[in-house]
Amino acid sequence: MYELMLDTANLSDIREGIAAWPISGVTTNPSILRKEGDIDVYSRLAEIKKLCGSQRSLHVQTVSTTTREIIEEARFILDRLGCDVYVKIPVSAAGLPAIKTLVSEGVKVTATAIYTTMQGILAGLAGADYIAIYLNRMENNCIDPFVVISEIRSFLDGMNSRSKILAASFRNISQVTSAFASGAKGATVGAEIIRAALGMPSINAAIEAFMEDFEAIHGAGQTMMTITKMKKAAVNSAAFLRLK
Ligand code: G3P
Repeated sequence: MYELMLDTANLSDIREGIAAWPISGVTTNPSILRKEGDIDVYSRLAEIKKLCGSQRSLHVQTVSTTTREIIEEARFILDRLGCDVYVKIPVSAAGLPAIKTLVSEGVKVTATAIYTTMQGILAGLAGADYIAIYLNRMENNCIDPFVVISEIRSFLDGMNSRSKILAASFRNISQVTSAFASGAKGATVGAEIIRAALGMPSINAAIEAFMEDFEAIHGAGQTMMTITKMKKAAVNSAAFLRLK
């Protein structure tokens, strides 16, 4: 199954996304939470989880820097927010052993801060549920993210892994579509990416042209629904006149 998630902690974006777009989860990290200003982090995350309900996943990142502390922090997060939360852990020297331990305990893990194929392979071998690849940041560092995605994808396929590549860190729509084309099973994007995708001037120009053509036939403000009503009204009034 392919997935689209929202990479934000902004409540109005999340409400809009859940109501209007095919969103299967919400991913957060400390920088995303910081953008929300002076918030109580756990209350905000609890609110996001409530909005997500049981149908969508919530991903929350640890910030500790030693393996023992990452594991403790992950358990604390689950204790506060529920054990169905995905704990995001950077694939680092300290993070990888934490991923391995937590996965063996049945914790849902999203391996994150991935810039290289090797990090993705290690996260896959450790059994992470999602492998979050930082596309834009990779491109900023002259790393081709699409090669990395396809290499990790063929590795995961080769080992029949259930780990899913979740592409993240986007600046434009093309990065998202190329991530899927290269083998990502999911993408987590800011609301602005979806708004940009739907707000292309050519889409609106096409819609306006269709409307003008329709109005040329049926008159201003008419739709497929109102022309039926109009026709019915015309038939009824003709029948009325005949009766008279
Ligand atoms: O989910 C990871 C992502 O938030 C990093 O994105 O935009 O900070 O590069 P960015």
